[in-house]
Amino acid sequence: MPRHLLSLQDFSKEELTGFVERALQLKKEQKQGVAHRQLAGRTIGLVFEKPSTRTRVSFEAAMYGLGGQVIFLSARDTQLARSEPLKDMARVMSRYVDGMVVRTFGQEVVDELAAYATVPVINALTDLHHPCQILSDIMTVREKKGDLQNLKIAWVGDGNNMANSWIQAAGKFGFELVLACPEGYEPNPDILERSRSEAISSITLVRDPAHAVAGADVINVDVWASMGQEEQQAERLKVFSNYQVNRRLLANAPDDCIVLHCLPAHREEEITDEVLESPQCVAFDQAENKMHIHKAILEKLIA
Ligand code: CP
Ligand code: NVA
Repeated sequence: MPRHLLSLQDFSKEELTGFVERALQLKKEQKQGVAHRQLAGRTIGLVFEKPSTRTRVSFEAAMYGLGGQVIFLSARDTQLARSEPLKDMARVMSRYVDGMVVRTFGQEVVDELAAYATVPVINALTDLHHPCQILSDIMTVREKKGDLQNLKIAWVGDGNNMANSWIQAAGKFGFELVLACPEGYEPNPDILERSRSEAISSITLVRDPAHAVAGADVINVDVWASMGQEEQQAERLKVFSNYQVNRRLLANAPDDCIVLHCLPAHREEEITDEVLESPQCVAFDQAENKMHIHKAILEKLIA
């Protein structure tokens, strides 16, 4: 049976920590000029139904960096666009490639592909989760702040796919998580309940962003309208207007707290240009770390 990465719930704390520690090692080795060939002769297929800059390029660079090869398919170029069943796509792709990296809308799409694939399926973002992103974010926090166990991490904004994966990460890694979300934009309640039942620290939902960032070591921010929600953009601009990460909000947080943004960012909406471009914001280190964490994931699941 192949091992899939559909959400962070699929792995134990030890396994997730293993991805992060291995990615830190691979990053160090790459900087030292060590050549990696672990995936020579292996091929992955990327199937993306939504746009991507970072996730696509970092997965491709990771696979090539380990000696492997990549086939990229935008979903509209495949027979999926003409309603070929997912179970057929999964079984056919499994005959050609050693793993599938999938970005799509419904979580049920990756779940169904995984149910029929005989190779690993990796979730590269759905409406419900963005697990690989959160692993690179955790890696970045680990680099900047050391051990995660005693940290307070804040989430400010929409209770979206990123927020859901952060909640699962809190349940696994054991850091304190406080999410400030407006009414009606809370994270998935089932994910919240399950992660709370496993967590050793609190996972709290509040309304006031100032409350969430007080005493926080890390502040997370993401777009107010995710991919697929473009028609809600105008409404969301109003709902989230008090949730901008700006200097005024950061005045409530410790001076040494860091700001994470998975990018792409909408300057002067969810984050000001001033904060995004400040040394406190580690968004570009996060972006780099996506490649290193993807290497660690591919090495473990594909090799
Ligand atoms: N952070 C992230 O997933 O970026 P892309 O949409 O560019 O892949
Ligand atoms: N929540 C965002 C993340 C983008 C990387 C989205 O789903 O569009």
